[in-house]
Amino acid sequence: MKMITLETSKAAQFLPAGTIEAFEPQVKAAQKALEEATCAGNDYLGWLHLPSSITEEHLADLQACAQTLREHCDTIVVAGIGGSYLGARAVIEALGNSFEWLANDGSNPIILFAGNNISEDYLAELQAYLQNRKFGIINISKSGTTTETALAFRLLRKQCEEQRGVETARKVIVAITDAKRGAARITADKEGYKSFIIPDNVGGRFSVLSPVGLLPIACAGFDITKLVQGAADMERASAPEVPFAENLVEQYAALRNALYNAGKKIEILANFQPKLHSMNEWWKQLYGESEGKNGKGIFPAAVDLTTDLHSMGQWIQDGERTIFETVISVAEARHTVLFPHDEENLDGLNFLEGRRVDAVNKMAELGTQLAHIDGGVPNIRIVLPRLDEHTIGQLIYFFERACGVSGLVLGVNPFDQPGVEDYKRNMFALLGKPGYEAQSEAIKARL
Ligand code: PA5
Repeated sequence: MKMITLETSKAAQFLPAGTIEAFEPQVKAAQKALEEATCAGNDYLGWLHLPSSITEEHLADLQACAQTLREHCDTIVVAGIGGSYLGARAVIEALGNSFEWLANDGSNPIILFAGNNISEDYLAELQAYLQNRKFGIINISKSGTTTETALAFRLLRKQCEEQRGVETARKVIVAITDAKRGAARITADKEGYKSFIIPDNVGGRFSVLSPVGLLPIACAGFDITKLVQGAADMERASAPEVPFAENLVEQYAALRNALYNAGKKIEILANFQPKLHSMNEWWKQLYGESEGKNGKGIFPAAVDLTTDLHSMGQWIQDGERTIFETVISVAEARHTVLFPHDEENLDGLNFLEGRRVDAVNKMAELGTQLAHIDGGVPNIRIVLPRLDEHTIGQLIYFFERACGVSGLVLGVNPFDQPGVEDYKRNMFALLGKPGYEAQSEAIKARL
């Protein structure tokens, strides 16, 4: 099986010689702290050996549940927010057909996402779309109390029961939640829904290789065994005993910290494949929520190229020089399309006739890399052999482990997210939630 590779030289050239190597002791110490669970946030390290410890029985249980949903549903709505949906969406879009909506031939259910916003229009339009469809729901919430997800689930459950009958609804609603606590657990147990547990020691943004990601991915028709195998292969390749110079995770974590210390405060994740758009979104949450605390942290931004070269290209080339770029490059396209001949050649592009579109995309990528380097933007390149389950599994684990190591080197707890509670407190105070009377008065006085 081919492994993903990391190219660092075009970022390292912006740093004095030996800068990255100087991080080796800190990076190895972070790896040791992860392995020995002596680091900050050590009660959230369940993800670290998840790929190598998932059992065949667990995978078979997930696959059997996915099969039931696939048999009984033409559409499956995944209700969840943040870590409870971004990973599944990233993988399904990376592996799927870009035009699933239009191209769906009935062999796979359509996978939709809800519970990730509080938009009345979104929910109304979703409900209208689901009318007369044989839909099921995967309700994903670790806490079981997240407003966005709970709202969507209330609406969708009611609609599902009304459209399909209570008995069928019980067959096609699945809960992925805490073992004991929260509304999602209580409802699942009461109604007899099939359910899966999100382990206590796996935080939301590190949960894609748990049922949170694996069940929706299996429902979409992808091979979760190969995905987990890819992640397990990366787990081995990034273990602390792998020398620093050969260890992708350690190199990336060291390089990010070195660039941050050199004033590069923004990392832009770039892809040249629209299928990777949601992978950007997953990565932004993983790094943003893990590192952005105590007044520190690289700001994770993302672009889809070449699309965004026509919108953000100017800024990247020529704006404030506080950025570096990490490009995800896919070596092999899945399909073949040749540049067509045009009799009139008004656009002057006949010189490309007969060449693969992917070859043109690769030259755009190379040209962009060189231009951005000339513009003072350090460039890291992650090369994926192709977009398949094994490769995506590797990429996920690579980013997760590098995030843990990177955050520890930065000196933060990468596994908590105290800052995300603030908006919730304000929202509940403004809405007058029982128990929030004092905050309610205080916040209204500020308006
Ligand atoms: O990373 C996290 O912990 C968050 O993004 C959560 O996943 C998100 O807030 C959803 O929480 P829950 O699964 O409890 O509904």
